[in-house]
Amino acid sequence: MGSRILVFLVVALIQVCTTPAVTNNDDFNALKALKDIWENVPPSWVGSDPCGSRWDGILCTNSRVTSITLASMGLKGTLSGDISNLSELQILDLSYNPELSGPLPPAIGDLKKLTSLILVSCRFSGPIPDTIGSLPQLTYLDMSNNSFEATDFPPWFSTLQSLTTLVMETTQLQGQIPSDFFSLSNLQTVDARNNQLNGTLDIGTSTINQLSLIDLRKNKISGFTNRPGVEKVGVILVDNPVCQETGVTERYCSVPQTESSYSTPLNNCVASLCFANQISSPNCKCAFPYTGLLKFRAPSFSNLENNTYYTVLEKSLMNSFKLHQLPVDSVNLSHPRKDSSTYLVLNLQVFPFGQDRFNRTGISSIGFVLSNQTFKPPSLFGPFFFIGDAYLNFAGEVTGSKKSSNTGVIIGAVAGGSVLLLLLLGAGLYAHRQKKRAEKATEQNNPFAQWESNMSIGGVPQLKGARNFSFEELRKYSNNFSETNDIGSGGYGNVYRGVLPTGELIAIKRAQQGSMQGGLEFKTEIELLSRVHHKNVVSLLGFCFDRGEQMLVYEFVPNGSLMESLSGKTGIRLDWVRRLKVALGAARGLAYLHELANPPIIHRDIKSSNILLDERLNAKVADFGLSKPMGDSEKGHLTHVTTQVKGTMGYMDPEYYMTQQLTEKSDVYSFGVVMLELLTGKRPIEKGKYVVREVKTALDRAKYLYNLGELLDSSIGLDTTLKGLDKFVDVALKCVEENGSDRPTMGEVVKEIENILQLAGLNPNADSASTSASYDDASKGNAKHPYIFSKDAFDYSGGFPVAKVEPL
Ligand SMILES: *[C@@H]1O[C@H](CO)[C@@H](O)[C@H](O)[C@H]1NC(C)=O
Ligand SMILES: *[C@@H]1O[C@H](CO)[C@@H](O)[C@H](O)[C@H]1NC(C)=O
Ligand SMILES: *[C@@H]1O[C@H](CO)[C@@H](O)[C@H](O)[C@H]1NC(C)=O
Ligand SMILES: *[C@@H]1O[C@H](CO)[C@@H](O)[C@H](O)[C@H]1NC(C)=O
Ligand SMILES: *[C@@H]1O[C@H](CO)[C@@H](O)[C@H](O)[C@H]1NC(C)=O
Ligand SMILES: *[C@@H]1O[C@H](CO)[C@@H](O)[C@H](O)[C@H]1NC(C)=O
Ligand SMILES: *[C@@H]1O[C@H](CO)[C@@H](O)[C@H](O)[C@H]1NC(C)=O
Repeated sequence: MGSRILVFLVVALIQVCTTPAVTNNDDFNALKALKDIWENVPPSWVGSDPCGSRWDGILCTNSRVTSITLASMGLKGTLSGDISNLSELQILDLSYNPELSGPLPPAIGDLKKLTSLILVSCRFSGPIPDTIGSLPQLTYLDMSNNSFEATDFPPWFSTLQSLTTLVMETTQLQGQIPSDFFSLSNLQTVDARNNQLNGTLDIGTSTINQLSLIDLRKNKISGFTNRPGVEKVGVILVDNPVCQETGVTERYCSVPQTESSYSTPLNNCVASLCFANQISSPNCKCAFPYTGLLKFRAPSFSNLENNTYYTVLEKSLMNSFKLHQLPVDSVNLSHPRKDSSTYLVLNLQVFPFGQDRFNRTGISSIGFVLSNQTFKPPSLFGPFFFIGDAYLNFAGEVTGSKKSSNTGVIIGAVAGGSVLLLLLLGAGLYAHRQKKRAEKATEQNNPFAQWESNMSIGGVPQLKGARNFSFEELRKYSNNFSETNDIGSGGYGNVYRGVLPTGELIAIKRAQQGSMQGGLEFKTEIELLSRVHHKNVVSLLGFCFDRGEQMLVYEFVPNGSLMESLSGKTGIRLDWVRRLKVALGAARGLAYLHELANPPIIHRDIKSSNILLDERLNAKVADFGLSKPMGDSEKGHLTHVTTQVKGTMGYMDPEYYMTQQLTEKSDVYSFGVVMLELLTGKRPIEKGKYVVREVKTALDRAKYLYNLGELLDSSIGLDTTLKGLDKFVDVALKCVEENGSDRPTMGEVVKEIENILQLAGLNPNADSASTSASYDDASKGNAKHPYIFSKDAFDYSGGFPVAKVEPL
């Protein structure tokens, strides 16, 4: 491998030496200096020709860098004075990089061509350099949400003759705003919310030209001087002493609060069902949209119910994207609202055109169109700003690892010019870094390489949307796999709760050393899992095969396992009707795996800790760690797989245990045990007693409740009529028949339970939660309860405590 890299280097160096770079040398040096102190620069930042090789976020005009737009890139580091060497720079937008910190270099004032300085929501500290006051062209300044030191409203703001927009929200400004500031002839919008500005607000006597909004919410302003013409300006002084006296009814003391449920309508199509966090667009295509909030400071309308406005806005957004030739398929605007801190807020989703995700160029260009205000909304909306979410699904990038190269690429590159070679040079140098070596070695035998290269083009067929997460991503989402996020552990490893940047909760099952599979087995398992989609089966969102780790990422099922609820740990009381619903859901999930999944799947580890309950108490079958797809042989015949016996004591089918022949009927047996658990609230083997035998022994069909009253779980609601209980017992006992051939199929079990629900006067298709009394905490911490919970026994979605039983 080492010698290969050397070849790259040599070839690449020759190429570099013979191809003149396009970028101005000073500009390159300055960018390189920034790149060296920043982490997480876009991967395209390699080589020595930012303009020629099109570094993401960099725009050039005649070899000179004129624009740096790197909003929401996750940049980390400081902003050094090297920036000032980019003497032709017009736009600098580093917004929403919350790990960019340190003081702003006064040398920013040397950027004489700068028109837009946008540093929203970084963590810059120290003073705001007054050198900015000497920027002759600066039209737009937004430094909101940084950690600057407290400072008086800078007098030099009044010298920015070109300034149209000043946004200094939450920037520790104090003192009085000098009235001459408002005489800046181009000034339109001033937003200095949430500061310590005080004194009396006076916009002075000069004619009000363009000024349309002064938002000084949450300051210490104690008075307002009425001047002719000021009524044309939207002034907001809510949460200032001037508005805090009782009985104040001034216009500037109120913020309208309303909201509407509007969202962009579907464009004559049927919304797609999407997986793995993809979202259906208004054109019904599944994709990863760029999302964020559009905030309008001064819309000229107040009726949020009039959808005409939003339709107009959608059109103008799309026109603007088209005008800038951005690969946008559609936009979805939703949930217009007026909140206490802003005027009009709308959720925006921007969907990619032709692909299921954007690349970095796409995101930075869209982010720029929105955050540089290149996009001009219809005038009735007034000025706006955009808060973009971080975008984590960049196309063409395998996060956390570099693509492995192959000979084809090398030959192509040698023939085809310098750009690719520069990339390879970068990759080669990269690989040389000690830190990254291990990573690189892993990829060499990465069975996912094929998938990865395909992922950018609309997902891989056999993956059905399951996403490849990098180790870093999952580490971040799970708060560094912290103990507080640990929601279950066992022989397999641990399960962690995580939060995606979208806010969606996930469960990360992380295999520990020793329980890892080979790469190919892992891949096979993911392929299998990603084909499984049913509302009663926990869905796989993605996986991680990176840095020697194997992790599976599942949807997070909020109410934990059936075992936990039966034990009283979750505080959810499972009355009889809920138990019927849970049984039905789990049976449907299992029937799906047996009868509809392709290939059919035998679960092999059905138990109450592998049945999870969602927020509506719908049951979801979890954990396919031990699952086996059945052979291709026709269904209906006694298909079986001979395997090493695996499963959990108490749930295991004795026939399977003795013959080692696995059939679907083994799952039916385990399901029968779960049904008995639902009846008795007992673990299958408790104090040496086996629930199957206990029930069979006590059973007397001639007696009330089949003579099982003593055995029934008290929280089932013994005082109510347990409609259908006898039938339920019959089905359960059918499932635990000795001979597999005497047991029903899961499909038959589903029908039986549906009948029982109907007998009980219930709709088998309604939610579990809605058919019973509401949650109650009666059983929380109930010491009387027979079920004892211990963390070791708890396996969230993992059949962790797996007993490997040697056949007799
Ligand atoms: C920036 O310009 C100064 C003066 O021309 C020079 O000394 C310095 O090395 C330059 N910095 C970088 C990073 O190129
Ligand atoms: C500043 O931060 C606050 C709180 O996080 C947020 O509500 C506000 O929208 C941010 N402002 C901007 C301009 O990003
Ligand atoms: C306004 O705030 C400044 C700085 O905190 C303080 O020095 C000044 O006395 C305040 N003025 C008024 C009128 O409260
Ligand atoms: C637009 O987004 C909202 C909120 O995410 C969603 O409820 C709505 O269904 C979406 N509209 C379309 C057409 O996809
Ligand atoms: C909605 O707004 C449009 C444009 O201002 C106007 O023409 C229309 O009459 C309004 N519709 C309603 C129901 O108010
Ligand atoms: C990014 O996407 C656009 C449009 O989809 C495409 O034209 C461009 O070549 C892509 N850039 C890179 C670096 O892949
Ligand atoms: C950025 O915004 C400024 C001010 O609105 C505008 O003049 C300029 O053309 C925009 N830049 C680009 C590249 O569109």
